[in-house]
Amino acid sequence: MRILLSVVLLALCGSASAFPLPDRQVARIVSSGWDDEASRDRSGEAATVIRRLGIAPGQVVADVGAGSGYYTVRLAPVVGPRGMVIAQDIVPRYLEQLKARVSKAKLRNVRFVLGSPSDPRLPRGAIDTALLIHMYHEIAQPYALLYKLRASLKPDGRVAIVDLDRPAEQHGMPQAMLVCEVRAVGYELVSIDDVKPGYLAVFKRGAAPDPASVKACRG
Ligand SMILES: C[S@@+](CC[C@H](N)C(=O)[O-])C[C@H]1O[C@@H](n2cnc3c(N)ncnc32)[C@H](O)[C@@H]1O
Repeated sequence: MRILLSVVLLALCGSASAFPLPDRQVARIVSSGWDDEASRDRSGEAATVIRRLGIAPGQVVADVGAGSGYYTVRLAPVVGPRGMVIAQDIVPRYLEQLKARVSKAKLRNVRFVLGSPSDPRLPRGAIDTALLIHMYHEIAQPYALLYKLRASLKPDGRVAIVDLDRPAEQHGMPQAMLVCEVRAVGYELVSIDDVKPGYLAVFKRGAAPDPASVKACRG
């Protein structure tokens, strides 16, 4: 009996079912992109985020929820041949379309990963910066996903989240809720600043909590 209990506990520890679901709405996945790319470029969105994060040649950047790849294709030339962009999503069709886009653009430093709502399935200890851009509000199991993401970061790796400061049902995420949820699974807030449009929140790894002790943040 005791052995069976240990096996069950081991299986649950770090598995999605060990974590609470969010105590708020989760937005439906409705498209592979956030707004049209020309207007995003006019407002300088990607250029600002890339500059503020200090993304540079040789780095490994994960574009989590890459969708149609607005960030992927802009990051690949920045990290260059010694770096890598890992384009990740949970919708196979979006990833297939992005593969075609990347191939057409002849970008040779992009890899693709199909994740799940609770597990990004990224390589361990590999990532300098994980970008979650206009997608956090769609993550059905944010506590489990963020916990798993920790193991994929390099020791000084960061998680950078861009979203709009409004409810999830309006495809945004209130800042206070975001900070509460991300801190709950053992990250520390480094900075939070306005960007056009929305905010850019940056986190680093802190002490990992016991998954069973994580409680959902209340709105
Ligand atoms: C609004 S699009 C944003 C795409 C892109 N990041 C951008 O800025 O244009 C949201 C994307 O997040 C993806 N997504 C939703 N939940 C996800 C999850 N748990 N893990 C990874 N991707 C997810 C969706 O499939 C969709 O491609």
